[in-house]
Amino acid sequence: MSAPDQQEDHYMHGADAAEQDRLEQLAVLLGGAEFLPPLNEGMNIIEFGCGTGAIARDVATRIAPGEVVGLDRQEAQLETARRIASDKGLKNVRFKQANAENAGEPDSVFDAAYCRFVLEHVADPVRVAQEMARVVKPGGWVCAYEWDNSCGTLFPESPAVKLVWEAIYRLQDMRGGDSRITGKLYGIFKRAGLANVRAEGFAWTITADERNKLEGYVGGAREIMSQTRDDLLAEKLVQPADLSAAEAQYQLLLESPDAYVFEGFCRATGEPANDSDSRRTD
Ligand SMILES: C[S@@+](CC[C@H](N)C(=O)[O-])C[C@H]1O[C@@H](n2cnc3c(N)ncnc32)[C@H](O)[C@@H]1O
Repeated sequence: MSAPDQQEDHYMHGADAAEQDRLEQLAVLLGGAEFLPPLNEGMNIIEFGCGTGAIARDVATRIAPGEVVGLDRQEAQLETARRIASDKGLKNVRFKQANAENAGEPDSVFDAAYCRFVLEHVADPVRVAQEMARVVKPGGWVCAYEWDNSCGTLFPESPAVKLVWEAIYRLQDMRGGDSRITGKLYGIFKRAGLANVRAEGFAWTITADERNKLEGYVGGAREIMSQTRDDLLAEKLVQPADLSAAEAQYQLLLESPDAYVFEGFCRATGEPANDSDSRRTD
């Protein structure tokens, strides 16, 4: 196990049981491998920033007898990922500790590489995209998926929720992440030297009749508010009253017969360029 690097200390979500539960719930809410380009039996695939391995497990069932490697910087995530995969009897997924900037894998060995909700947290997303491209064979694909923090809408309208989330994004940026990364994914993939780059937007909604989804969505948001509460107050990005007001507005959302949630996502895809000289070398 390598020593934790400096950025890990600033990773805003941590890896405690509540955060791990949030990630598992996220996979129930948003799905596992559905956001990825086509998967075929026998493919070998690597996930960068796999967390508790929810997506990797889904990919593993779709590409068997191919193998999935999930890498993450946090050993606590990997321990949980290994335990859940083992409990489910999955034999074709393994998890390893590594920084996304250096996967510790040879060149051109995987058919595909992907990450979800990771580039927004890394110091150099171009370098991570470049690393994903490096380990993928010519003709394979690289994919990144991110939440578009600029376009969410709630009804009933919730100005305090909006205010608190803008503060959370500010905190994320102060911690070395990029809360507005979705709009940049296309350029990041191009600068990483990927070919045939595409960036596509996806919309996602929840309405009051989708009780479980609504509760899962609010539960995840409340968990991130709780994770960041102390830092938000210490940095004076919000006042305690803002947090209480946001909490009350989430409750109103849960209770409203007209509740409506709209969220957007961006998926960037590309292929490793044949000419490795075209990749960024700095
Ligand atoms: C928000 S979680 C997403 C987990 C998973 N991709 C999912 O969608 O459920 C981000 C994960 O990326 C990991 N991570 C962040 N920066 C990383 C880096 N530089 N190298 C490797 N893993 C990283 C974190 O430890 C965390 O487990």
